[in-house]
Amino acid sequence: MIEVKDLKKSFGDRTALKGINVSIKDGELYGLLGPNGAGKTTTISILSTIVPADSGEVTIGGCNVHSGLNKIKKLIGVVPQEIALYNELSAIENLMFWGSMYGVPAKELSNTANGLLQLIGLYDRKHEKVKNYSGGMKRRINIASSLLHHPNVLFMDEPTVGIDPQSRNLIFEVVEKLHKEGMTIIYTTHYMEEAERLCDRIGIIDNGQIIAEGTLDELKKNSAIKETISITFTEGDENKIRELFSYWKDFNRTGKTIHFYSTDIKSDLAKLVLQCNQSGLEISNIEILKTNLETIFLNLTGKQLRD
Ligand SMILES: Nc1ncnc2c1ncn2[C@@H]1O[C@H](COP(=O)(O)OP(=O)(O)OP(=O)(O)O)[C@@H](O)[C@H]1O
Ligand SMILES: [Mg+2]
Repeated sequence: MIEVKDLKKSFGDRTALKGINVSIKDGELYGLLGPNGAGKTTTISILSTIVPADSGEVTIGGCNVHSGLNKIKKLIGVVPQEIALYNELSAIENLMFWGSMYGVPAKELSNTANGLLQLIGLYDRKHEKVKNYSGGMKRRINIASSLLHHPNVLFMDEPTVGIDPQSRNLIFEVVEKLHKEGMTIIYTTHYMEEAERLCDRIGIIDNGQIIAEGTLDELKKNSAIKETISITFTEGDENKIRELFSYWKDFNRTGKTIHFYSTDIKSDLAKLVLQCNQSGLEISNIEILKTNLETIFLNLTGKQLRD
């Protein structure tokens, strides 16, 4: 239902997207997982027709921006990263306003808005001004306003950043319910836990490119690493650390911590500890991490998802 071919976008001399290719099936919950500046919002903005691409093609439900812009607009809902609400208006007033902007007929708008307020758990507070709401409550209203015109496809751009655990859980439940009802959802995040919990398929995005894609199981299976041994040293004698590196081909470093990728944990762990001792390197912490999206990302890019 959504086909994205070789999408490119630059802002001045900064390249935001270097050629994004994605294919998303009807009813699929697709996660775009990547760190700050990876290109998630740019991708979502182009897919939702807010920003034009420099080149490439996007087809949603058989339409593209040139041939069927109005049809696409009816098909999609967007939950932007930045909250778009009027603080001086109440929750219900905001929804009525956004609903009329979407062209939802007045007769059904009130019913739909009230139903959505129930869905997001704010029906009882619907007459309070949005300025009195917590960040999490505002985000929930933001989600409700994207659903007023009953879209088939929902773009959600980091809908849980900076909010309380209660709102986060409620948003997860709403996303899961919409998914169960058959909505196609594109969900961006830099939290691997969210991608792991929610998404049918995940595209790992970095530097304007999708560098790995698949179900969680496929990503784990295709990963060259089995486990990661993360060692933090007490004092960072660079020469000693460099000596240690000469034995290992697959590792990354973030600050004082070195992440060694292992395919045979028992023998690698013993070897590493022995080599640290022989080099006179004092270990302050050692952790063994099972392969997850974070370690896969680290292995692919040398960076952590959250810097
Ligand atoms: N309007 C703009 N003008 C100039 N540069 C931009 C603009 N929008 C995005 N960029 C740049 O494009 C790159 C991708 O940005 P984008 O907002 O898509 O990343 P992101 O993955 O959404 O990051 P975050 O997790 O911080 O939201 C970044 O280098 C960013 O600085
Ligand atoms: Mg963003």
